[in-house]
Amino acid sequence: MQTVLVTGGAGFIGSVTTDQLVARGDRVIVVDDLSRGFADNVHDEAVFVHADLGDRAVVESLLANYRPDAVIHFAGYIAVGESVEDPGPYIDRNVGRSTTLLDCLVSNGIGNVVFSSSAAVYGIPGRVPISEDEAKHPTSPYGWTKWAFEEVLGFYEAAHGVRHVALRYFNAAGATSTRVERHDPETHLIPNILEAARGGKTISVFGTDYPTPDGTAVRDYVHVSDLADAHLRAVDYLINGGASTALNLGSGAGYSVLQVIEAVRRVTGRDFPVDLGARRAGDPPELVADPSRARALLGWEAMQSDLDHIVRSSWDVETPKA
Ligand code: UFG
Repeated sequence: MQTVLVTGGAGFIGSVTTDQLVARGDRVIVVDDLSRGFADNVHDEAVFVHADLGDRAVVESLLANYRPDAVIHFAGYIAVGESVEDPGPYIDRNVGRSTTLLDCLVSNGIGNVVFSSSAAVYGIPGRVPISEDEAKHPTSPYGWTKWAFEEVLGFYEAAHGVRHVALRYFNAAGATSTRVERHDPETHLIPNILEAARGGKTISVFGTDYPTPDGTAVRDYVHVSDLADAHLRAVDYLINGGASTALNLGSGAGYSVLQVIEAVRRVTGRDFPVDLGARRAGDPPELVADPSRARALLGWEAMQSDLDHIVRSSWDVETPKA
C-alpha cells in the first residue's frame, strides 16, 4: 500500500483523484485550507487535515507522521481573470507557499511530486497541436505562476534530488457521479451552456472573428476522470524511478465554442438563446494538446473525453430530475 499526500484534495480534480487513489487501495492524506475547496468533497476514507501549506510547522508534522511515498500538489488558485486583477495572492499561493511545501518535503526526505500545471503556461502557442517543448509565454499571472513553479521544481531537483511530473491540463470538464465542478461566479463554458439549457440564461459566445473554421475559439476538453487517472499513473511512474518531466493532458481533439453549444443541444435535446458577442480579453484562439508524451511515458489515454460524454456526465449530475 502506498501513502499519497494530496494537497487541494477538497477541490474538483483533487477530489476525483482522491476517490481513484482510495478505490485502488492507497492510503490518502488530504491537506486543504478550504479557501476554495469543500470539506464534503473529501472521500470518507481519506485522512483530512485542514491546514494552510504556508504553515510550516503543521506541514512538517504531518509529513513526519504519515511519511507519504509521493505528493500530488493541486492546492492553488486557478482563475485567470482574477489573477490579472489581483496577482499577489496567486504568486503567494502558487509559488510562495508551494515552495514552503517543497522545503518541508526536502527536510523529510520525500522526493516524488506530481504537480498540477496548466496549458496556460504556453500563452498563445506558435504551433497547434501543442507539444511540451512549445515556448512558454504565459499571458496571465495565473499561467506565469504555473510556469514559475515548474521551474522551481527543476531547481529543487538540481539542488535536492526532488523528482517531479508537471501535468499541464487543457480544459478540465465533465463530472463523476459524486463530484461536480463548483465555482462562484461560474466562468467556464460548459457549465454556462448547461445553465442556458436548463432555462436560466442566454449563453454568450466570446468572439466570432478568430482565425478558426467557424470563427469561435477552439479548446481541448478533457474529462476530470481522465485527468485523475493520469495523476495515479504519474505517482507510480515516479515511485518506480521515472525521470522528471512535464506532460500535456488533453484529448488531442479541438472543439469550437459553437461545436460545444451544438453538443449540448444534441445531448440535452433542449434549445436556448445564443448571443454572439465580443472576444474576452486574453483568450488564445486555439489550444489543443499533443498528448503523445503522456501516452508514451504513462500509457495514458483520454478514454472518457468524447465531447458528448463530457457534456452528458455534467448534465446528468447537475440537472435535478423532474
Ligand atoms: N466562452 C464563451 N462563453 C462563456 C464562457 C467561455 O464563449 O460564457 C469561451 C471562452 O472565451 C473560451 C472557451 O469558451 O474561448 C473556453 O472558456 P473557459 O472559460 O471554459 O476556459 P479557458 O479556455 O478560458 O480556460 C481553461 C481554464 C484555465 C486553463 C485553460 C487552459 O479555466 O485555467 O483552460 O486551456 F489555463
